[in-house]
Amino acid sequence: MIPFLDIHKINARFHDEFQSEFDVILNTSRFILGNKLKQFEDDYAKYCGTKYCIGTGNGLDALTLILKGYIATGRLQEGDKVIVPSTTFIATILSVIYAGLEPVFIDANSNTFNISIEEIKTHFSKDVKAIITVHLYGQLADMNAINTFCKTYNILCIEDAAQAHGAINESNVKAGNLGDAAAFSFYPSKNLGALGDGGAITTNDEELYNILLKLRNYGSDKKYHHKIIGYNSRLDEMQASFLSVKLKYLDADNEKRRLIAKRYLLEVENAKIKLPYYNGSKDHVFYAFVIQVDDREMFIEYLNKHNIGNLIHYPIPPHQQEALKKYNGLSLPITEQIHKTVVSLPISPVMIDDDVTKVIKILNAY
Ligand SMILES: Cc1ncc(COP(=O)(O)O)c(C=O)c1O
Repeated sequence: MIPFLDIHKINARFHDEFQSEFDVILNTSRFILGNKLKQFEDDYAKYCGTKYCIGTGNGLDALTLILKGYIATGRLQEGDKVIVPSTTFIATILSVIYAGLEPVFIDANSNTFNISIEEIKTHFSKDVKAIITVHLYGQLADMNAINTFCKTYNILCIEDAAQAHGAINESNVKAGNLGDAAAFSFYPSKNLGALGDGGAITTNDEELYNILLKLRNYGSDKKYHHKIIGYNSRLDEMQASFLSVKLKYLDADNEKRRLIAKRYLLEVENAKIKLPYYNGSKDHVFYAFVIQVDDREMFIEYLNKHNIGNLIHYPIPPHQQEALKKYNGLSLPITEQIHKTVVSLPISPVMIDDDVTKVIKILNAY
């Protein structure tokens, strides 16, 4: 069996380093808001090139807190519209709803699957006060065009960078530093994954940073003094210390993912399989390697028969989910087509060359 993603093997590489971090934390028994979190926040801000990083409980909270933070600073008001990509994981949309804002769904660019600037222009109105871009599957969105648009209309540009840790553009600017604020998820399967839930926000905005420190911790910056209505969403010491260990290896791991992707792109030759867009640069970190096929059920049966792990990111787009009934009537044809045809193939920093070769052989024989 070639696993879709061998999380045990990914983390086993760091067993000894994790063990010594665990021992230190168990000895000090400081589990929440201690030095390990501060160290990771400093490390991750430095890595992304931003002034600030704030750890949160997960990626959904990171997104929601950014929006709530901008409401607290007066940059957003409840009821404002926020442009969101319709091809994304549901968390992007849920954050807008949790913050009391109104999502405006934008169809995807059929090449990159990311939000399309042409569609943004078509659906823009004076009620839109922010755009959330998602770097889907690890591919940076068209941030130059989107930032120019946001600056022209004086609206916020927020990155959902949950799938793009370490992706870097042609000017050497990393995901997390390509808008006003960015949200990351450290869900275990992510390129930088914790051993449980975790998330973070990066930003250069000092006012937002100061609000977020309170928002994630019951609205408090001094124990039992609560200045605003806050939440409980903190990245704990254990996860922060494990993430600091893994951060050192992130660039090398992303490079390994790109090498596997390059092999798939070069060696898979089958008219029934549509390969993903990739420009060959470091602006893609291949959180997922996603192909498209017309006969998905048959194709997945074939992969399963040949013991090749696979997954669908994602089978149903957010606007067609039962939970989002209000948006079920929207027509987003490119997004709907993408969700009907995508299949994610095995890719990870611990995948061995022989397994890549086997996958390619099986795909070419389909
Ligand atoms: C694009 C995107 N946004 C947000 C999230 C939410 O992150 P989390 O699961 O850590 O809440 C995820 C991952 O699950 C994601 O893939």
